[in-house]
Amino acid sequence: TGIKKPFTEVIKANIGDAHAMGQRPITFLRQVVALCTYPDLLDSPSFPEDAKNRARRILQGCGGNSLGSYSASQGVNCIREDVAAYIERRDGGVPADPDNIYLTTGASDGIAAILKLLVSGGGKTRTGVMIPIPQYPLYSAAISELDAIQVNYYLDEENCWALDVNELGRSLNEAKTYCNPKVLCIINPGNPTGQVQSRQCIEDVIHFAWEEKLFLLADEVYQDNVYSEGCQFHSFKKILYEMGPEYYNNVELASFHSTSKGYMGECGYRGGYMEVINLHPEIKGQLVKLLSVRLCPPVSGQAAMDIVVNPPVPEEESYVQFIKEKESVLNDLAKKAKLTEDLFNQVPGIHCNPLQGAMYAFPRIFIPSKAIEAAKGNKMAPDMFYCMKLLEETGICVVPGSGFGQREGSYHFRMTILPPVEKLKILLEKVKDFHIKFLEEYA
Ligand SMILES: Cc1ncc(COP(=O)(O)O)c(C=O)c1O
Repeated sequence: TGIKKPFTEVIKANIGDAHAMGQRPITFLRQVVALCTYPDLLDSPSFPEDAKNRARRILQGCGGNSLGSYSASQGVNCIREDVAAYIERRDGGVPADPDNIYLTTGASDGIAAILKLLVSGGGKTRTGVMIPIPQYPLYSAAISELDAIQVNYYLDEENCWALDVNELGRSLNEAKTYCNPKVLCIINPGNPTGQVQSRQCIEDVIHFAWEEKLFLLADEVYQDNVYSEGCQFHSFKKILYEMGPEYYNNVELASFHSTSKGYMGECGYRGGYMEVINLHPEIKGQLVKLLSVRLCPPVSGQAAMDIVVNPPVPEEESYVQFIKEKESVLNDLAKKAKLTEDLFNQVPGIHCNPLQGAMYAFPRIFIPSKAIEAAKGNKMAPDMFYCMKLLEETGICVVPGSGFGQREGSYHFRMTILPPVEKLKILLEKVKDFHIKFLEEYA
């Protein structure tokens, strides 16, 4: 209320909401959604033919040729076909069945539905769900809502946040003494940690899940967000197939994608899909029933998802512009990932692993004992205290590591790399100055 702050604007680097940070929508995606929404535009010369063809195809799949009708609860048929074709292309020909594809309200809704389907039992037989620490808080929240048991496995900060299968074993064996661990969640590329899993590591995880009969849940919403030299996205589905029939006929796997991330950043459309394989037919029936209670995901979001999986091809007139827009977003993100890593690592008391993928930095911060005392006095977690001070003094809004989980006694914060390059540079300089001052103040 009128109290003067030492900054002129609040910079929101706390959530992965690209458009809110000024990223422009992909023209082709918006053209198709606009045409689907207002089909009179199909007669307008201002829209390219390839966008019109996409829109006509989607509308033909909708009840009454309208985006305003409910779709089948699994999603519009032709969009599920496009998703399956996309997965086959992405995975070098590994087959995908449209019947195993479910369109969802963002990835969140699919993840919540699968967890709901899998959780059962009571007391020591209650379902345990293994999640990485640090994790994306949708997982802890969904687990808690379902009264399931959260089973933590720690990512290895000393090794670029890699997943260590020995740690999975430790975590699982401990969990078996107090619950029935049945589900293993993987986030690749990672949020908040930004690591991209190696092919070998994915193979090890799949072998582990096969041996221990765990349901694998692969959150792959950042599959297009890979930046580091030598890193590549490998889908769990693809590796599973490459490991042979003993694996691909048995391991239950649900994998997730979304319109919210990648180069499109269309968070508000709430588009997403999941592919679920090796589900027992009766359980599959239960899943369809469970999903049908919410009728269907937003059909506009399904249309947006369709463009992500069925973008312009080289022979089409929108191809050049599409690729230009896509590459521009991804190249900027790669530049910002490197910039952020480099700058943080110049600051004494900050250590930042490479941002191999996704759209966040999760640097480790040294908090002096005097600051930890001061935080206690304010009844705050030390990293919360740090982030509040950062906000008060610079206007930069980031999230304390305690919101994601971290090893006892270590402190972090999560910051997105979504602000435009020039703004991000200013932001990073401000964090640097703040951190140096903070260390002096509490020395
Ligand atoms: C790892 C991860 N999974 C899932 C989601 C959910 O995204 P949406 O529901 O918008 O698709 C997010 C969003 O930030 C995320 O980071």
